[in-house]
Amino acid sequence: MNEPREESLLVAAARRHQGVALPVWFMRQAGRSLPEYRALRAGTDMLQSCFDPEMVAEITLQPVRRHDVDAAVFFSDIMVPLKAAGVGVDIVGGTGPVIEHPVRSLGDVRALPELDPDSLAPISEAVRRTVAQLGDRPLIGFAGAPFTLASYLVEGGPSRDHARTKAFMVGQPDAWSELCARLAGYSAAFLRTQIDAGAVAVQLFDSWAGALSEADYREFVLPHSRTVLAGVVDVPRIHFGVGTGELLVTMRDAGADVVGVDWRTPLDAASRRLGGQTAVQGNLDPALLQAPWPELARRVRRVIREGAAAPGHIFNLGHGVPATTDPDVLTRIVELVHAEAPDLRAAAGWSQ
Ligand code: CP3
Repeated sequence: MNEPREESLLVAAARRHQGVALPVWFMRQAGRSLPEYRALRAGTDMLQSCFDPEMVAEITLQPVRRHDVDAAVFFSDIMVPLKAAGVGVDIVGGTGPVIEHPVRSLGDVRALPELDPDSLAPISEAVRRTVAQLGDRPLIGFAGAPFTLASYLVEGGPSRDHARTKAFMVGQPDAWSELCARLAGYSAAFLRTQIDAGAVAVQLFDSWAGALSEADYREFVLPHSRTVLAGVVDVPRIHFGVGTGELLVTMRDAGADVVGVDWRTPLDAASRRLGGQTAVQGNLDPALLQAPWPELARRVRRVIREGAAAPGHIFNLGHGVPATTDPDVLTRIVELVHAEAPDLRAAAGWSQ
């Protein structure tokens, strides 16, 4: 048997025994903010690139080399398992996922294809290549949660108010339930593939769950996200959404070890809402990456201090890195977190 690798800072934080050191990574750290990414991707379609193991491994590693972050996040997309299953989906630059045949009825739901596990073989291969080059640094796998995926399928593309999705959810609850069960199956298979090939933690992105009331989330969404998270109990599970300050407890109850928090809720308040028992991830406002460095550094330190109130903290942004970000700013944030977090956390009374 292989020697167990030393537990990474990321996994220790998720398991709530991290000490004063603070792991840092960024959602969307791989991608358009990096000139080396833009050069590599030039001329290759987004979803096509996700099925090219060599390209995926290289893009995943780019931000690790450049920023010295404490984790890599697998370069892929939440739509990849749908593409693998044969759903007509494209990712259109400047827009996002666009669906050829939006799902609006029970018939449409039942027409969604089964996912043949063999179709994810390029994903396994990409994870294996990535992990082989990462050394001891952990790889985070991810998937989209059923609600966020359903929103793209029902709307046919990105939406501000998710009105068609909500109408489908409350108006055709049985069809909704079948749709989410199918999507939970896609996402669970995508996560399992990444874990079996070497990912040591996962993040479930329910980016748009914040559009829901707590009651609707609990009734229509939680059971399906729980199915996905229950399939991957062997690794730490991070559960993230935007605007989910009212859903933190419910998203934890769906089966998360770490709750992702956006910039609207201070991490100490988030931790109190969670009863002081759950690790948190976040939560620098991505828009502030454009702010003058001294002010940005002040905000980074504030996030570090507030995060010390939780029994585990993974430093991140409150959402993904914007495409226009100066990558040097991200490198400076990593340096600051590594240099100053131990003292700041100790001074903030971190005592576990
Ligand atoms: O570094 C990482 O975080 C890993 C890569 C990653 C991508 N997508 C790469 C990507 C991850 C984790 C995702 C998840 C994802 N994809 C989510 C959930 C996270 C979130 O941001 O809330 C969502 C909602 C999607 C759907 C999606 N894919 C959108 C909205 C877009 C942007 C479209 C645009 O051009 O504005 C994409 C495309 C996408 N996914 C890009 C990248 C690097 C950009 C593609 C390009 O280079 O043109």
